[in-house]
Amino acid sequence: MKKSRQLDFSYHFNIFLRNVAKELLRLFYHTGYRILRPGKRFYCENIFAGKNGLVFSNGEITCVCADHGLINLGNVNQASLEEIWRGEEFQKLRNAFKANRLPLRHCSACFALKKIYKPTPDLYQIAPFFWNIHIETTPVCNLDCAICRRDEVEKHRGGTQLSKATVYKTLDEIIKHKTNKFVLFFGFGEPLLDRNVYEYVTYLKERFPEVIVSISTNGIPLDNDQNVNALLNTPLDVIVFSVDGITPEAYVRYRRGGDFNRALGGMTRLTQERRKRGQKHPLIIWQYLYFRWNDSDEAIRATIKKARELGVDILHFLPTRTPITGISWKNQLRRNHGVIYKFGGVDHDYNPHDRARVIHVSNEMEDIPL
Ligand SMILES: C[S@@+](CC[C@H](N)C(=O)[O-])C[C@H]1O[C@@H](n2cnc3c(N)ncnc32)[C@H](O)[C@@H]1O
Repeated sequence: MKKSRQLDFSYHFNIFLRNVAKELLRLFYHTGYRILRPGKRFYCENIFAGKNGLVFSNGEITCVCADHGLINLGNVNQASLEEIWRGEEFQKLRNAFKANRLPLRHCSACFALKKIYKPTPDLYQIAPFFWNIHIETTPVCNLDCAICRRDEVEKHRGGTQLSKATVYKTLDEIIKHKTNKFVLFFGFGEPLLDRNVYEYVTYLKERFPEVIVSISTNGIPLDNDQNVNALLNTPLDVIVFSVDGITPEAYVRYRRGGDFNRALGGMTRLTQERRKRGQKHPLIIWQYLYFRWNDSDEAIRATIKKARELGVDILHFLPTRTPITGISWKNQLRRNHGVIYKFGGVDHDYNPHDRARVIHVSNEMEDIPL
């Protein structure tokens, strides 16, 4: 396991800024916002509709994918997922929402927070089970991304990998309920460093074929034919490559400890081998987070060109607000919710961000809009 990060001013400054911003926003929601928008109710898609849950590699459950281990709603090593979903800790959060309060600092800036003007009587009804769940089978990572709190992740998980017995117990529950649209095998580690992940994907898809199973990777473990073949032998539906840059310099500003050429090498090997096999799955997505250092038109054009050359199915430019000091202001100020390029008539309805702009790129298209 990687050693904890050395004291890094920018890292701690960003975390401080983020916590202050979230707390101030929460204060505003509880005060001024109520006066400006009387009658609005707060609602959370995750804790009522099961839109997101995350099983950490030490078995603890949290409701939000951007939490490094601060919220503990129960542990799958000790209870079933369903018991936790209906348990006291989830209920406490729900009670706060019913009282029109945000229970956690994180809630104020969370994607799952909705403000409802005309609440229906069934607004706070609880879904039978999850719609989407992340399973972090390993906390281990080969990178040290600028805002990924590896020190907290590693301290919190204690280096523990989810035991096979716990993973299968969790998958069996998902298979029994059949309410999940998605199961995502990743959290804060690099999922492809856990060699068991291939058999987990196969086990789940064989028993619950309708569920969409996805993995997000930094791509480096796939710069290796053995792993590419192991992955292509599974029925995995979607793979997301996190590669935010088109030059090694831009890439490593966020993906510290990463290797741009190897990440691209992973994507290249997978697309080539999938083509050779005449296989359609997994859908291959290049996810590119916009930062202030990688958002020039020139970089975006070069990335689109590269993605097309490689033969990925989708290139997804995604704005982020973390780290605050890395924000791509031109995208934030335009209220840009991201751009999704779909190449060569890909027909998958992948669109994780409803408000993102979707551009279909046909094989003949020469001038691709930005
Ligand atoms: C923490 S990563 C771990 C999984 C895997 N190691 C990877 O790199 O994709 C999980 C997801 O979070 C995304 N992510 C990382 N930093 C982010 C940020 N600052 N804002 C939004 N998403 C981010 C990654 O791109 C990835 O899709």
